[in-house]
Amino acid sequence: MNYYREHQAEFLEGLKTFLRIPSISALSEHKPDIRRAAEFARAELEAAGLSAELIEGEGNPLVYGEWLGAPCKPTILFYGHYDVQPPDPLDEWKSPPFEPEVRGDDIFARGAVDDKGQLLIQVNAVKALMATTGRLPVNVKFLLEGEEETGGEHIEAYVKTRPPKLKADAAVICDTEMFAPELPTICVGLRGMVYYEIFVEGANHDLHSGVYGGAAPNPFQAMAEIICALKDRDGRILIPGFYDRVVPPSAKEREAWARLPFDEKEYTEKEMGARELVGEPGVPLFERVWARPTLEVHGIRGGFTGEGAKTVIPARAVAKISTRLVADQQVDESIAQFTAAVMAAAPRGVKVEVKPLHSGAPSLTDPDNPFIHAAAQALKEAWGKDTVYIRSGGSIPIVGVFDRYLGIPSVMMGFGLPDDNLHAPNEKFHLPNFYRGIETVAKYLEILGR
Ligand code: BES
Ligand code: MN
Ligand code: MN
Repeated sequence: MNYYREHQAEFLEGLKTFLRIPSISALSEHKPDIRRAAEFARAELEAAGLSAELIEGEGNPLVYGEWLGAPCKPTILFYGHYDVQPPDPLDEWKSPPFEPEVRGDDIFARGAVDDKGQLLIQVNAVKALMATTGRLPVNVKFLLEGEEETGGEHIEAYVKTRPPKLKADAAVICDTEMFAPELPTICVGLRGMVYYEIFVEGANHDLHSGVYGGAAPNPFQAMAEIICALKDRDGRILIPGFYDRVVPPSAKEREAWARLPFDEKEYTEKEMGARELVGEPGVPLFERVWARPTLEVHGIRGGFTGEGAKTVIPARAVAKISTRLVADQQVDESIAQFTAAVMAAAPRGVKVEVKPLHSGAPSLTDPDNPFIHAAAQALKEAWGKDTVYIRSGGSIPIVGVFDRYLGIPSVMMGFGLPDDNLHAPNEKFHLPNFYRGIETVAKYLEILGR
């Protein structure tokens, strides 16, 4: 359809405006920007022809929109998030993170692909159908949140109450990646996660390391011992019971993964910029990143890290650590296992505290449902290739929440690319994917309406 080509400039302008808002959910000084981003999203929904409102609660506002003018047709619940990750390290960006810049076919900015660009794919698809046909082929609802990047606690609390407003037949989420450029992809499994802070205290104040070294407990040494007790040098998690509920991928899934077009050297050296891959020996790569739990240290804070040398035994150390979970691991059980393992690994002389910050369940969707079949067809028509089914190692907590409390499957059709630098400096979105994503989602709604 011509409409899409004619309106590319308008779609791009909208995306740029959205990307200029630094809606960083992790940093409280950005609360006003969070609100601006929510307002922007609401206005976009209205401009598309939906009725829309902010749902205010304890956390960042939820944005809700709907168009329910197709009584005998299914109802699709679109989900997206308007919050973004912090942009640091700033000096590694080639253009400022909140001043979107188009270079070649890509737009660079924090949130370009995760998830503002992909959120707008959904809105623009609806806008295009409304503008060209005056209606939609199915009923459509939107639920957008501003806390996904920090765990999505409040949207979960809201969905848990099963509001009649959210009644739908399936959810659609554009917040994942294509396996390779031009390869239409549906994601059917995500890892869950629990994010922890671990506090270790030795003495109640910093000590001279010469005067007290040999007698004083050192919280950094203790933290290192704890961390090494949680995962071994091969990447195997040592927490007792952690793998007990892990479901291995089926033979069919393993075979499909082995057929995916993939260059391991390019993945390692270009995409990751690493020297070599690590992880559990004998476990194939996609299984390691999609179907096995992991444990990662994100940061360790405390002690002396300034210029020069300071001889001190710090009183306290803090570590940020997360575990990724896979089906059928259970969040609460994994927290108990993790906490017990940390406590058991703590050397004497220190006080240790484990604090879970947020969590989300893993998800695995049976691709054999009509909403996923229709998505595969829309993708095939728009991209001219058979759709591949993959899983992803990332987490989108709402998928498990929709499954559990609304009883609906999530269709994850994402348009990101493997080199889009999610959560990293120079995040980008490939503009041809932005535009074609809009056509794909519109086509999807048309297929569902037949
Ligand atoms: N969109 C990502 C998740 C993702 C990325 C899924 C790539 C599939 C492919 C999402 O915004 C995200 O980053 N989620 C967080 C989870 C959250 C609980 C902090 C993540 O995975 O770290
Ligand atoms: Mn995202
Ligand atoms: Mn993200």
